[in-house]
Amino acid sequence: MQLHNPIGVFDSGVGGTSIWKEIVSLLPNESTVYLADSLHAPYGNKTQEEIKQLCIKNTEKLLALGAKIIVVACNTATTNAISYLRQHYPVPFIGIEPAIKPAALQSTRKSVGILATKGTLNSALFHTTSEKYTQNIKVVEIIGEGLVPLIEQGNLENPALINLLEKYLAPMITAQIDYLVLGCSHYPYLTPLLKKILPKHVTIIDSGEAVARQTEHILNTHLLLAPQTNVANHKLITNGDPEVLEYFIESFRTSGIINPNNLTIKKELF
Ligand code: DGL
Repeated sequence: MQLHNPIGVFDSGVGGTSIWKEIVSLLPNESTVYLADSLHAPYGNKTQEEIKQLCIKNTEKLLALGAKIIVVACNTATTNAISYLRQHYPVPFIGIEPAIKPAALQSTRKSVGILATKGTLNSALFHTTSEKYTQNIKVVEIIGEGLVPLIEQGNLENPALINLLEKYLAPMITAQIDYLVLGCSHYPYLTPLLKKILPKHVTIIDSGEAVARQTEHILNTHLLLAPQTNVANHKLITNGDPEVLEYFIESFRTSGIINPNNLTIKKELF
């Protein structure tokens, strides 16, 4: 495997760009290929078998594009399919799971909220992790039904988002949570709205930074890190609306973290 080959990243749509940005910021010499499977979003209400088949399709596309490692930037895909992917494909896989452990350890009120998809909250992997770390902790699990399709429309000002969030956060506020775990890679884009609704003392956490650090660690242990001289190139491919993908990465593109000339967005069916 060539060290300058890209890190492959996929999600059910644009949400995983929240993870992709963390990876690109931490690893400036690494090239990436990002697949936004917006055509098949949301994954959250699909069966485990359907999610697995979509993950196989995305993985094979990324491998065909030369991915040396694959980041499953989707909690729903990770909790339902990562063990299958690890068993059947020859590259390392990094997954993302709701950050229940740090929330449970740091909660002083012993009350945490988790907002995630149905597919994640119903998965065996989520249950095992949750049971392990939340003994003696009150956990309010809420399915963020309808949030991903709204985010996929590419308008974070949509009043429908705030209406849904008010409804979903109400039981968490009643339970006096002090940590809110964002268990879906689309949800970090809702943080400004969540902050408007939640009491000030509530800390919002997601897993983006931890996934980027884990990606670095795995590249390092597999001797797959790109050389320092490598000029990073980023390809973002969507089977949905490229303008929506553009909307979510525009401020990052112009932030100076990457060279905008080395980033392309294109629409392609996969
Ligand atoms: N970004 C996906 C996740 O992290 C959203 C799932 C969906 O498409 O419903 O779970």
